[in-house]
Amino acid sequence: MSVTRSAVTGVGSYLPETIVTNADLSKFVDTSDEWIVERTGIRQRHKAREDQPTSDLAVEAARKALADAGRTPADVDLIIVATTTPDMTFPATAAIVQRKLGVGVCPAFDVQAVCSGFVYALSVADGFVARGLSRCALVIGAEEMTRLMDWDDRTTCVLFGDGAGAVVMEPREGQGTKADQGLLGFALRCDGNKADLLYVDGGPSTTGTVGHLRMSGNQVFRHAVINIAEAITAAARAANIEIADVDWFVPHQANQRIIKGVGDRLGLDETKVISTVATHANTSAASIPLALDAAIRDGRIKRGDLVLMEAMGGGLTWGACALRL
Ligand code: UT7
Repeated sequence: MSVTRSAVTGVGSYLPETIVTNADLSKFVDTSDEWIVERTGIRQRHKAREDQPTSDLAVEAARKALADAGRTPADVDLIIVATTTPDMTFPATAAIVQRKLGVGVCPAFDVQAVCSGFVYALSVADGFVARGLSRCALVIGAEEMTRLMDWDDRTTCVLFGDGAGAVVMEPREGQGTKADQGLLGFALRCDGNKADLLYVDGGPSTTGTVGHLRMSGNQVFRHAVINIAEAITAAARAANIEIADVDWFVPHQANQRIIKGVGDRLGLDETKVISTVATHANTSAASIPLALDAAIRDGRIKRGDLVLMEAMGGGLTWGACALRL
């Protein structure tokens, strides 16, 4: 049976120049490189300049993804930005990216699912591309999480960083089998009853401020390990693949212990798991495309590989998706 799949035809990413090490943080908050590395695996994070909004990071990543796909802004007919740190309350960061890239009139909007945003955005783009409503979609995860930090709160400010990753999605004809190029299946979840475990204590209709990130780290950790594993299993089932078929796991980069915990639960081969948490820290919706791009650039992930992505974040949201590059 012939089916139209939405395929990733280009990948790009961008990290702001400034690097903040654990030692830098320990100069103004009561923490240590030893604690951060042992509990999270994080060694450094990137931080955007004051005059560099989220859309600038998104545009840099998008340009690289378009070049990788052999496309130009003139080809783009859909822009989805997954972000929880928009430039402004409105317009959507996607609209700003559209203007900065010089893309013509087309649908452009943001997806807000916090750290799961990129997995959510891919599934939304799939709805356009696989139905013939888009022939060249830009799906971007872009975040400046450092803007949401309470720099006096050592339990959160050491965990996050800034960055952006982007993919180009285009239709490809397949046979409806797991050998097809493109998105094969996904599983998305949200449990709003757990919203107070991870949130930002501000907003336009409550405090009128941006607010700061608050997290009950321990409880989020436990939720992550158990539920991400379930979502991975569900996404694999939806894609009609076995976990053993997967060439590469590209997890959300929140904590090396979560990545390991999920891997252990599912019996994943550690050498197939991409980890950039040490150098990128948690960049929320940007973390998966940043890790994907890093592993493509260093030659590990190749065209034709079966990739499984997973994430969990505020909402609480979580999810997973399987795609063949
Ligand atoms: O992407 C969104 C999803 N977010 C996540 O997935 C994050 C999930 N949670 C985590 O990654 C971990 O729970 C943390 C890294 C946030 C914390 O690690 P933990 O092993 O769960 O530590 P804990 O919260 O149980 O804290 C242990 C101790 C506490 O001290 P006491 O009460 O035992 O004396 C904390 O006050 O570590 C202390 N602590 C720190 N010490 C030095 C907490 N943060 C720090 C710090 N430096 N930065």
